Amino acid sequence: MSRFIALVPAAGSGSRFGAPSPKQYLQLNGRPLMWHTLSVLSQVAAIDEVAVVISPGDEWFDDYQWDLPKLSVHRVGGASRADSVRNGLRALGAGLDDWVLVHDAARCCLSVAAVERLMAALSDDAVGGLLALPVPDTVKRADGDGRVSATVPRQGLWLAQTPQMFRAGLLAEALDKGRTEDITDEASAIELAGMKPRLVEGDAQNFKVTYPRDLALARAILASRKE
Ligand code: C5P
Repeated sequence: MSRFIALVPAAGSGSRFGAPSPKQYLQLNGRPLMWHTLSVLSQVAAIDEVAVVISPGDEWFDDYQWDLPKLSVHRVGGASRADSVRNGLRALGAGLDDWVLVHDAARCCLSVAAVERLMAALSDDAVGGLLALPVPDTVKRADGDGRVSATVPRQGLWLAQTPQMFRAGLLAEALDKGRTEDITDEASAIELAGMKPRLVEGDAQNFKVTYPRDLALARAILASRKE
C-alpha cells in the first residue's frame, strides 16, 4: 500500500519579509506560523507522516513545542526550494509509489477540506497535480516604466498553490533531471519532464504569507476557525 507523506520545505530565509527570524517562526495566535501549517496536514486522516525540512543551520526550531504526533524533522535544507525538496525526498526514504504532498510552510491557512479534495481528485491519476486558483482579475503586462503594455487574456490562467502531489519516484526523477533555476515548483519539474499535472481548484484562503501586511489576514482566518 502506498503511503501519503506531506513534505514541507521550511529552509527559506524569508528575505522578502524583512523580519529578524524567518517568517515560518513568526508568532501567530500563540504559535509559530509554521505550526499551523503542520497542524492542518497532521489532521488529514489519510496522511501518514508530516516531514518538515529545515536548514542545517536553523537556530529556531528547537525553541518551540511542536507536539504533533505525525511530525518528522529533517535538517537537510538546500540553497533553493527545489534543493530542499530534493534533499527531503532522499532523507525520507519514501517508496517509489508513495504519494508526496509538497506544501509551502508559509501557507498556514490551508484547510483540511482542500487537502482532501486534492487527494480525492488524484487518487487514480498517473501524473499527479496541484491545488490552484483560476485567475479572477484582469491581467496586465507592464512595460519597463510601470505602464501597461498589454492586457493578457486570463482565460486558462491559474495561480499555482500547494500542496502539489506526486509519486515520490516520479518527483525525485523529475527534480534530478531539471535545472534548479527552471524549477519554481514541483509541478514545473514534472512539466519539464514532459507530463501534465492536473489542476484541482483550491481556495483564496490558502495564500502564501509573503509580506508583513499578510499577517493580519492570516491571523483573522485562523482565529475564525477556532470559534
Ligand atoms: O520564499 P518562498 O516563500 O517562495 O518559499 C516557499 C517555501 O520554500 C517556503 O516554505 C520556504 O521556507 C521554502 N524554501 C526552502 N529552501 C529554500 C528556499 C525556500 O525550503 N532554500
